[in-house]
Amino acid sequence: MANVRAVVLAAGKGTRMKSARPKVLHELCGRPMLWWVLRALRDAGVSDVTVVTNGDLADHVDAVAGAAGHASVRGVLQEPQLGTGHAVQMALASLEPAGGTLLVLNGDMPLVEVELVARAIAAREHALALVTARMPLPSSFGRIVRDGAHVARIVEARDATDDELALDEMNAGLYAYDEAKLRAACAQLTNDNAQREYYLTDTIAHFVRAGDRVAPVVADDFRSVLGVNDRVELAAASALLNRRLCERHMRAGVTIADPATTYLEPDIQLAADVTLLPNTTLGRETVVGAHSEIGPNSRLANARIGEHVVISDSVVIDTTIGDFALVGPYAHLRHGNEIGTGARIGNFVEIKASTLAPGAKASHLAYIGDASIGERTNIGAGTITANYDGKNKHRTTIGKDVRIGSNSTLVAPVEVGDRALTGAGAVVIRDVAAGERVVGNPARPLPKR
Ligand code: UD1
Ligand code: MG
Repeated sequence: MANVRAVVLAAGKGTRMKSARPKVLHELCGRPMLWWVLRALRDAGVSDVTVVTNGDLADHVDAVAGAAGHASVRGVLQEPQLGTGHAVQMALASLEPAGGTLLVLNGDMPLVEVELVARAIAAREHALALVTARMPLPSSFGRIVRDGAHVARIVEARDATDDELALDEMNAGLYAYDEAKLRAACAQLTNDNAQREYYLTDTIAHFVRAGDRVAPVVADDFRSVLGVNDRVELAAASALLNRRLCERHMRAGVTIADPATTYLEPDIQLAADVTLLPNTTLGRETVVGAHSEIGPNSRLANARIGEHVVISDSVVIDTTIGDFALVGPYAHLRHGNEIGTGARIGNFVEIKASTLAPGAKASHLAYIGDASIGERTNIGAGTITANYDGKNKHRTTIGKDVRIGSNSTLVAPVEVGDRALTGAGAVVIRDVAAGERVVGNPARPLPKR
């Protein structure tokens, strides 16, 4: 849609959110409301986008647009905010007239989907293709007053009579305008209404008076056009978006035991035959390989998980885990970890900035920080890498086939060679040679066997 330009209305104060944060920066499924709208535009191939902003929002627009996949968008400040019609006037004043279709959409409709955007663009023949939806009542949406197949006008709920409030066709907040005709209509807007605002929706009556036509595009599902005006609607929209993400993965072969308590973000990748158990959150760029089982009660963020991995009741952040590894219950992999194939991490184990080679095990109660642990090495219960001397962090390096006894303390920087052993309660303050056995506090070598 190289020739279609879009204007996103996002400057409203969002009074009903009762928040210090601009409304469109409130998050749903880990992304700001505005991200969802911009992502739908990107997916529809609309790259020329103007966002109408307020002073609090302006500095954030570029980051949100970049994250949603736009090379750049134009921000136009609307101060003060005198209504949706005024917002469009500000946008138009900043744009060179180009003719053709100008898409206008509310920034508070995060459920909007690419198909609906494309339908609106395709349906515009005359002045305006107006997206509408049939909705259960009561509703605070603007009502569509029809004249047969065409739209006669939109009346805002606050300005509507009882008869008008009984209408169940609503204005979605997504418009495909003839840009030249929009410019003419916008110049005529007044603020003669309950809110003393310039309503974009009054452009419709203007077109009709001028003998032009407004074609309704009825959305298949009203849920895809729900607006978010307060935190109740935010939660409802989040649940719907999350359900949509879950369904997409289920259709692609992922088992989700309870979609209502499985929280997904849009940019994760799940292979077929992954199983997600209840109360589980998968965020950021998480990738999970085939046949892995995640949950219950787990939170993964930017985790790269191999195949046949089992993670239960655990937190895994910025971490890579190899095939056939077992994690949890109750493990905390904080950040920067590489966990090898078939490794085992058991209950109450915390790991940070560490590498566990294939087959390494830390099955119970340990803190492993800034450490490298070799193949098949076993870390006994209660082991601590004392990585911090009060000023600096130091590394612990443990070789292959090592047995670290229960309750060992490894005071970094320290190295333990291959096949070495530490006795229960050893406090290791010096390097341990390959094959050496040390015990005590401070740990000393036992005589050679
Ligand atoms: C608006 C529509 C209503 C429609 C509903 C769909 C108008 C007058 N009414 O009502 O017919 O059913 O959306 O959700 O358009 N904004 C600005 N500048 C402003 C005012 C608002 O940029 O001065 C932005 C807001 O940030 C928001 C969008 O425009 O993203 C819609 O404004 P909002 O106040 O939420 O309008 P609604 O009452 O929801
Ligand atoms: Mg709204």
